[in-house]
Amino acid sequence: MAPAWLLSIAAFCCLGGTAGIALGGAPCDYPPHQWCGSSEIAQACKAEKHCARLSPPRKKADPVSVSLYYESLCSACRTFLVFQLFPTWLLVFDAMEITLVPYGNAKEKKGPSKWEFECQHGPEECLGNLMEACLIHLLGDDRSYFPLIFCMESSSNVTQSLEMCMKLYPPREATLANVTACVSGDLGNKLMHQNAQLTDALRPPHKYVPWIAVNGNHTEELQGEAQSNLLGVVCKLYKGELPPACQHKGSSFPASPQDTCLKI
Ligand SMILES: *[C@@H]1O[C@H](CO)[C@@H](O)[C@H](O)[C@H]1NC(C)=O
Ligand SMILES: *[C@@H]1O[C@H](CO)[C@@H](O)[C@H](O)[C@H]1NC(C)=O
Ligand SMILES: *[C@@H]1O[C@H](CO)[C@@H](O)[C@H](O)[C@H]1NC(C)=O
Repeated sequence: MAPAWLLSIAAFCCLGGTAGIALGGAPCDYPPHQWCGSSEIAQACKAEKHCARLSPPRKKADPVSVSLYYESLCSACRTFLVFQLFPTWLLVFDAMEITLVPYGNAKEKKGPSKWEFECQHGPEECLGNLMEACLIHLLGDDRSYFPLIFCMESSSNVTQSLEMCMKLYPPREATLANVTACVSGDLGNKLMHQNAQLTDALRPPHKYVPWIAVNGNHTEELQGEAQSNLLGVVCKLYKGELPPACQHKGSSFPASPQDTCLKI
């Protein structure tokens, strides 16, 4: 059964977003997708029964870690993020742990006062990478930032959709002004430099993006499996009691094209 915060994401998107409705008691200042995030929030939002019913306890094991090294405008990265990573995370989020590193095939050099970046798909891609790095840093929790990044990457214009996506999935941790300040300031520059270092430290070094590491490993075989059926990879490697979404044999999402953006 899907967890309640996840169903709430769906409800929220389709009902047009009336965040934080609660009848009396402690205020519910949380968007619906966070209502089952903690027992305090569930209580404030009068969602306790709903949350308890939707997330029965299961035997836990270490989550399967999936790291994605990508760049914001590479269409192969967008395809993987939108059609494999996000839906898999929605279905088996407690069996997996995601790390997103927006940078990809960019290059950096030290300028007089800060790092300067050159991106494969031009300055607009650098801006998209920066926005997403700032969201990840400022929001901290994948339940907050991943729906936002999914929203941007699935929009027709990634950079222009930031504001609309923040209205659709309003995070508690930061405002649009916070994100804008990060993007144009030293913090964003520092975060992008960190992503450059993380990407350059990859062993083997990446040859294309999306570059996927599962439990810290990248092989061509794992990459191919992940790009065609990430749900199957996570279900196969998870050692705990399998989430319901894993229990249908051969379940996977429709095959998506396995393109890459080559590093040049
Ligand atoms: C996205 O929108 C911005 C602002 O209107 C525009 O400058 C940019 O060219 C658009 N990008 C794409 C890929 O259409
Ligand atoms: C967001 O901006 C407000 C107003 O400037 C500030 O008080 C707050 O600390 C900022 N939050 C973050 C997470 O940077
Ligand atoms: C990752 O690599 C290590 C060492 O080569 C290996 O023991 C482990 O099974 C690999 N994990 C996956 C998920 O392939």
